[in-house]
Amino acid sequence: MIKNLYIKTYGCQMNVYDSGRIKDLLKPLNYQLTDDPSQADLSILNTCHIREKAEQKVYSDLGRLRQHQTTRRQQGGEMLIAVGGCVAQAEGDEILRQAPYVSMVFGPQTYHRLPEMIAQVARQQDSKKGKAGRGIVDTDFPIESKFDSLPASQSTSTSAFLSIQEGCDKFCTFCVVPYTRGAEYSRPAKDILIEAKRLVELGSKEITLLGQNVNAYHGQAPNVNQEWGLGRLLLELASIEGLQRLRYTTSHPRDMDQDLIDAHGQIPQLMPFLHLPVQTGSDTLLKAMNRKHAAKDYLGIIDRLRKARPDIAFSSDFIVGFPGETQKDHQDTLELVRQVNFAQAYSFKYSIRPGTPAGSMDQQVPEAIKTERLYELQDLLNEQQWAFNRTKVGTVQPVLFERVGKIPGQILGKTPYMQSVPLVAPQRLVGSLVDILVKEGYANSLMGVIIDSNEPVASAA
Ligand code: 5AD
Ligand code: SF4
Repeated sequence: MIKNLYIKTYGCQMNVYDSGRIKDLLKPLNYQLTDDPSQADLSILNTCHIREKAEQKVYSDLGRLRQHQTTRRQQGGEMLIAVGGCVAQAEGDEILRQAPYVSMVFGPQTYHRLPEMIAQVARQQDSKKGKAGRGIVDTDFPIESKFDSLPASQSTSTSAFLSIQEGCDKFCTFCVVPYTRGAEYSRPAKDILIEAKRLVELGSKEITLLGQNVNAYHGQAPNVNQEWGLGRLLLELASIEGLQRLRYTTSHPRDMDQDLIDAHGQIPQLMPFLHLPVQTGSDTLLKAMNRKHAAKDYLGIIDRLRKARPDIAFSSDFIVGFPGETQKDHQDTLELVRQVNFAQAYSFKYSIRPGTPAGSMDQQVPEAIKTERLYELQDLLNEQQWAFNRTKVGTVQPVLFERVGKIPGQILGKTPYMQSVPLVAPQRLVGSLVDILVKEGYANSLMGVIIDSNEPVASAA
């Protein structure tokens, strides 16, 4: 009997990848995806713990799922509720205390055991004549790698994610990742190459390599007893026929080694767009954050990358209002932003994460000041993004169309710089790289016309 599986994914691309693998993992158990939680036999929240807001959202969504669960039970059905991901890892048992109607709590490193957990819950229910027992919590960091137990990826998207590295040993003082995702681990290069070839065979044209600290990658090389860094791995991936675009995220400035910088100059498939979080432009705060580099080191890396690949553009992450941040520190951040000139960026107010060193630092910055600084930073970043988008007007950009849009007849694609290009065009172009003459640059998208086919169709923003 087919069962409905509802998965809600929060947070980063790594969670998106994990949710895809969970879907593949549960397919042999007859689970198929549904968008409608009221019809689900199993609902999974794949959670994010990076900032407080994301965590609060999980508990309010759990409340909503509970209502669906009650309705299903009143109708004689059942809905199992599971919480996975980083909140599950961090909170463990606490989730069952706050939400006793949850059956399974599992961390990012144990989701390969989900079929076992589901069987265990079913056994409990049988022995209690249909009544759910106490939920199962599995938040180990197991010795075995989940990747060895997962079925081959079945992603059929034009642009696919491939997780190559997990965890983090950097311990930036604001960040929970080293606690929720565990120690750094790199998958063997051979496994990554097999998965990448399979994704391309299934139709992917673009692969984004994922890792919390992706450029710290140091995986076992195929056949020889040595390790490959990310630069070497990218070279090998670039030789896969049919793989037209490569990206990787998220990187740490400390791990931008020369091989990787060279790779940007050598590999045409490696897109000229790099997400390289800096967090702040203040040396005092970089030190307090334990980022282990100064602002000038970051600017130096940007210069070297621009020399290797002159058309490269950058995106970054920023935190405003880290404990002790002064007006001068904030100005340093704005100054760094002016010097780099970003094509895109994400910026956040510092959010206290319990258990992290910064969480208990003195001199927490008042909320109103955080808000003011965030707006000032975002104004500058938005201005830069829009200006960058306008620099593409009049140029021809190869656009990879990934899916149909919400507006009938519209398809959506991305330039090498991750700029969205909505276009009214035949659906068969989804999955193709098409040259587009850019006519307009907006704040968040580009508009253009196809120039390399016989179809003179215009895009609509
Ligand atoms: N508060 C605010 N932002 C944070 N990030 C990580 N931890 C925190 C925190 N405690 C941001 C960083 C990181 C991105 C993924 O999330 O900018 O690069
Ligand atoms: Fe968190 Fe820092 Fe590791 Fe990135 S490098 S995951 S910000 S601890």
